Parts: sequence; C-alpha cells; structure tokens
Amino acid sequence: MCGIVGYVGPQPALEVVVDGLKRLEYRGYDSAGVAVLADGRMDTEKRAGKLANLKAALAETPRSADGIGIGHTRWATHGAPTDVNAHPHVDNDNRVAVIHNGIIENFASLRLELEERGCKFTSETDTEVAAHLLGEELKRQGEDLAAAMRAVCRRLEGAFTLVAMYAGDPDLVVAARRNSPLVVGRGDGENFLASDVAAFIAHTRDAVELGQDQVVELRRDSVAVTDYDGNPAPVREYHVDWDASAAEKGGYDYFMLKEIVEQPQAVADTLLGRVGVDGTLTLDEMRLAPSELRDIEKIVIIACGTSYHAGLIAKYAIEHWCRIPCEVEVASEFRYRDPILNRQTMVIAISQSGESMDTLMAVRYAREQRARVLAICNVNGSTIPRESDGVLYTHAGPEVGVAATKTFLTQLVACYLVGLYLAQMRNLKFGDEINAVIEQLANMPQQVEKVLGTVAPVRELARSLADSETVLFLGRHVGYPVALEGALKLKELAYMHAEAFAAGELKHGPIALIEDGLPVVVVVPSREGRGVLHDKIVSNIQEIRARGARTIVIAEEGDETVRPFADELIGIPAVPTLLQPVVATVPLQVFACELALAKGNDVDQPRNLAKSVTVE
Ligand code: M6R
Repeated sequence: MCGIVGYVGPQPALEVVVDGLKRLEYRGYDSAGVAVLADGRMDTEKRAGKLANLKAALAETPRSADGIGIGHTRWATHGAPTDVNAHPHVDNDNRVAVIHNGIIENFASLRLELEERGCKFTSETDTEVAAHLLGEELKRQGEDLAAAMRAVCRRLEGAFTLVAMYAGDPDLVVAARRNSPLVVGRGDGENFLASDVAAFIAHTRDAVELGQDQVVELRRDSVAVTDYDGNPAPVREYHVDWDASAAEKGGYDYFMLKEIVEQPQAVADTLLGRVGVDGTLTLDEMRLAPSELRDIEKIVIIACGTSYHAGLIAKYAIEHWCRIPCEVEVASEFRYRDPILNRQTMVIAISQSGESMDTLMAVRYAREQRARVLAICNVNGSTIPRESDGVLYTHAGPEVGVAATKTFLTQLVACYLVGLYLAQMRNLKFGDEINAVIEQLANMPQQVEKVLGTVAPVRELARSLADSETVLFLGRHVGYPVALEGALKLKELAYMHAEAFAAGELKHGPIALIEDGLPVVVVVPSREGRGVLHDKIVSNIQEIRARGARTIVIAEEGDETVRPFADELIGIPAVPTLLQPVVATVPLQVFACELALAKGNDVDQPRNLAKSVTVE
C-alpha cells in the first residue's frame, strides 16, 4: 500500500528515486510522484496512473537535481487517483515536500484548524495536512526539519510513514513511522529510505529496521534515529540475503510467471536448515519456552486473503498431528468479536508481507489478551514478526506479483513445520514418524516441478474460458481451501466472478447456480488417505454434470474413477492427503494467470489492488 523512496547521496537523485519506485510499484500503482531539489528550489512532478506516466512527464521536462530526492507510488485512500492527489504534497511556501503511506485518522480536524489559520489546500488527501503542519513547525523549530517532524508526528493519529525534504537543506531527508513500514539502506557516502528493501537493493544490502514511533534523519554520511521526543532510539541492523536479480523479471514477461516457476526452489529453501542432525526441528526466533509450548490448549490462526487459505489448510494438519483444537479466522474480523484468548492460547499470524494492518492489529490484540503469538512471514524484520513471540520465516525470496503464489506454497510448508514442531515438543509423535513426514515434504519440490512440467493443457483450457462469466470451484477437506485459493486468484487476476464451495455444501443451495456449460473446477482428494471423501466428491461431480456443468477435475494421476465424469482432467502427482494442496494449487495459479493474460490484464498489477495492505 503505497511505495516510498528517499535518497541522499552523490548519484543523480531523480534516477535513483524513479528506479526505486519501479521496484516498489507493486505496492500501489494508481499514481506516482517525485520531489527533488534543483538549485535549492523544491521541484515536484506527479501523475495519475502507472509509473510510466510519471516517467513520460519527467522526460518532457528534463530537470537538474541536487543529491536528494523522494518518490511515491500510490494506492489511493483519501481522494481519487488524480495528478493533484498524487504525492508529494507541499506546504504553501513550497519549502517542504512530503510523501505518505497510511491513513492520518484525525486529518479532518487538522485540516479545519489549518484552514482557519489561512492555509490553502489543493488536494483531497489526508497527507496534505502533514505538509502544511511541517511548514508551520519548521518556522517554530528554527528550521530544524527533524524537530518539526517529531512535533507533527506527536499530533497525528493513525498509521503513517512520512518522508519529507526541505528546500533549505540539500543534504537531508527526514522520515517517521507509526504502524507502517520503513527501512533504511546504508550505503557508502549515500543513504536510502524505502518501504521495502527492494527499492535500494541494487545499491546496498545493508539495512536498518526502524522501530515504532521513530524519526530518522538521513544524510550522506549519517543515519540518526530518535523517538518522537528526540531521544536516541535503538535500531536493528541486518544484511539482506537476496540480491537485485531476485527482484527482476529474469526474462519472463511478468513477475507472476517467474514466481510460479520459482516454487520448487522456494519450497526447498523454506525447508532448508530446519531439521537438525538429531532430526529435531528448529524455528528461527522462538521466544517461547518448551514448557510454554507444552501448555498450549488452543491454537487460533489469523491471516488475510491467500495467507488465510494457508491457515485453513494448516488447521487440518495441526489438529491431525497435534490434537490441539485449532480455529482459523480472517484477521480483520478477529478483534471485533471478543475472542476467548488466554496464556494457553497460541495465535499463529500468517502474513507474507508481515505488514498487513488487519493481521498486525489482530496480533496486538492477541498479545494484549496474553496469548502467545507465532508469526509465519516472508519479509525479514517486518512489523508482524517483530511484534510476535516467535517467528518462522518462509524463504520464498521477494514476491513482486500482487497475487501470492510462491509465498503461499512456502506458507503451507511453514505451517506443516509448525505442526510437526508442536508434535515434537509435546511428544505426540515418535521421531521417526516426524522424519517420515519431513521426508515427504522434502520430496515436494520435485512434485511441484512435475506439475509445472504438465500445465500446458491447463493454459490452453484457461484461454478457452476467457469469455466465461463465472467459474465455480469445489473441494473437500484440504481441497476446500485450495478451491477458495483458486477462486481468489481468478477474481483478483481475471476480474471474473469466481466462487468456491465445500463440495458437500453444494446441495444446500449453491447447486442452483449450475447451468448448462458453467465451468466448475473440482479438487479431488487422494484415493489413498481419505477414500470416503474421494468417493463422495466423485458423486458431487456427477451431480453437477447431470445439471449441465462443464467439469474440470483436478485429480491424482492414475485416478481413473473420475475420468468418465471429467470434461477436462488435470493430473497431479499422488502425495499424502495433507500435503496435496502444495501440488493441487499450482494448476489453479497457472489457470488464473493464463486466463487473465488472455483477457489482456496485467497479472502483476491487477486493478484496485496492492501487494501489501497497510490500512484497515
Ligand atoms: O502480506 P499478507 O500475506 O498479510 O497479505 C494478505 C493478503 O492481502 C494477500 O494474501 C492477498 O490476498 C493476495 N493478493 C492474494 O493473492
């Protein structure tokens, strides 16, 4: 949700900032803007639409720039995505430029107050209040931008990352954060600021993570961090373990296509180093004692979107292996229903970005209720793992496409590992039983590779359905969340009506939707582990086919029992039932991606969406 870049150094600031924005465009892409200093004068350019529009505008009017600049790519909250509402925003004297990610909740009263003092607003955004307040505070604070920023932040409510520069100091960018991401990149004689390390990874892999309610003063040779009262504040420095090439398209037309293909490696990387020589599992940062893990009486999984689907699958595995009751809840609903939590509850927060505001707020609520929180996350050092008691990182590498693909598969692997870890800590399974599952997991990269090698007919099928208005998805057991994930992918990428149902629920209402030629994708459980479920879903397929549905059946290779009822049959390798989602999801990702491409959609940046949702 909004990408932010700041730069101070000897390189042409405009180029560094625009290049950073390109790498952050997945965070928001309805408008973009930059501010640079040109001979001590604040120079801004901003355009509605994708970054390409801003680039075209910049190319029309070549500008000089001193060595500082800030840039923003927007996902609109307050005010439509127009040139005027795009960031940066400036004060009435055009001395301060500000970019912002988040929502300033008390902006309406602040705006009124500023207008009463004669301030002229040009946009409908909440951000503009910060620009005017900073302009006022600069005068009050003796032209000290950092002091002005601290004073402004003390007045703001809500979630924000603010980055500002000031015409009077060509060697300074100041930023602040509350409940919204911000990371510093340390270079040699230059420094960077961004919402995500991807923006500066081509320049440096040394990063500094900012804490809650901190202000950073960025100069060429220094990075100074304080709290909102000006006291020096502690920070965590770290080295990013991937390089710029990981965040490039690598010859693919879209990041999503590359990220789908990267899945075998991502799964393997997530398993790597988790099992010790003695066969015991280890998590990254487990700030929970073994005795605390043994005391857990209930697990609650909270997450959004695709991560929520990973949580639904985790429930089956955790309850089966650990016999601990496990609930799964959409994070945005969690804290509003007065959930029953206590010291014996373990909350597992699943979030690719580690920044989803709904999940973060649910984590904070859970900790207030004294529950122990374990994060499963793909972004090192992001807010959710930092605020949790323990974390297990997925090692999917950077995922740029807005639709989650490789991070979903690695979340599944991480969830399986957590289940096995709990079983190990609570002595619920013998070591060799755990090792047997680990071996099956270790085999998953090859199985996913196999699926990727056989998806050409899925692509063809997807293209043939580009004019369909609706696609339904059915599944049972772990196949149900897979069906939900297939429908979500299709909605977000192809902008089509897609809905998933538990196959058994069909006859309780949704079967009325079935009409002649309606495509219905059915995820069939393994015949081995859950024979009863398999047979029941075969009956469900017959029921919908009898009513005219065009059945697209995903089933284990060699499962001939479904062939007579499948208009289209997509084979997946036979794997243990609980692990089937790892292979069954892949054709659905390919299906949605190809169908969206056939409709001419941009699969990396679907309309109305942003990769990381940092507002509630
Ligand atoms: O970063 P998170 O995992 O917390 O994000 C959660 C959802 O916003 C995310 O999974 C979203 O549903 C994806 N676009 C799905 O492809």
